[in-house]
Amino acid sequence: MQTATMTQTTSDTPSNDPIIDNETKSDDSVDIQNFRIRSFALRQGRLSQAQQNALDNLWPQFGLEVADELLDFDKVFGREAPTIVEIGFGMGKSLAEMAEANPDQNYIGIEVHRPGVGALLKLIGEKGLTNIRIFNHDAIEVLEQRIPKDSLAGLYLFFPDPWHKKRHHKRRIVQPAFAQSIAKHLKPSGHFHMATDWEDYAEHMMEVMSVAENYRNAAGEKAYTPRPDYRPLTKFEQRGHRLGHGVWDLIFERI
Ligand SMILES: C[S@@+](CC[C@H](N)C(=O)[O-])C[C@H]1O[C@@H](n2cnc3c(N)ncnc32)[C@H](O)[C@@H]1O
Repeated sequence: MQTATMTQTTSDTPSNDPIIDNETKSDDSVDIQNFRIRSFALRQGRLSQAQQNALDNLWPQFGLEVADELLDFDKVFGREAPTIVEIGFGMGKSLAEMAEANPDQNYIGIEVHRPGVGALLKLIGEKGLTNIRIFNHDAIEVLEQRIPKDSLAGLYLFFPDPWHKKRHHKRRIVQPAFAQSIAKHLKPSGHFHMATDWEDYAEHMMEVMSVAENYRNAAGEKAYTPRPDYRPLTKFEQRGHRLGHGVWDLIFERI
């Protein structure tokens, strides 16, 4: 499991408004070893007792570790099935719902926030799910080190941290290099599905993805996609709808 060696901020729950004012003053924005800007500010994790119990009891069964060896999905899940990765699953509600609704698919969730990992394990236990595995680590490293080329049916990135201040835009996970590096993990015709409730991040995603090599916009050039049924409507999104806030889905297919 990831150990927190970085300066931590204090928010307890994943939000669309991360605490970022500290981040440029601290070390945690940069992965010194890899000279890479991080897309997350590691928040102080106060684990609830239930999350801790889920970690203690279920991590050995559902947790995956970073290692210098590619995963064999058939071995990991004990069956052959399409495999989907969700980057930054937050508290895991959507991922658990998707896995429950699609028992014929494998899901790998990747999240740095430990209470979120505990929360998802708790849901896995409550729902009796068998088709999810979890990494508690930076998704960029997990993809590079553990996810084989041409292996994924889908890659989901739902409501990534928007880093809405201009000077923080460099920390947004969707960047040209990111688009390029994840493409190789998708099978041809596999989908990279993004959703955001920040219009200017949606525009940024569209800009980056429209010129990225090896992708085709599944909805047509520069077009957003209506939310597909498989992406659960979040509570936050429902409230947003009532207040007239938008959500933008973008789906790019690997060619
Ligand atoms: C704004 S939250 C959204 C959570 C969830 N997808 C949702 O819709 O509620 C973004 C999440 O992405 C995680 N995150 C950001 N960068 C990450 C990375 N490189 N690897 C893994 N998780 C990351 C954060 O810890 C945070 O929980």
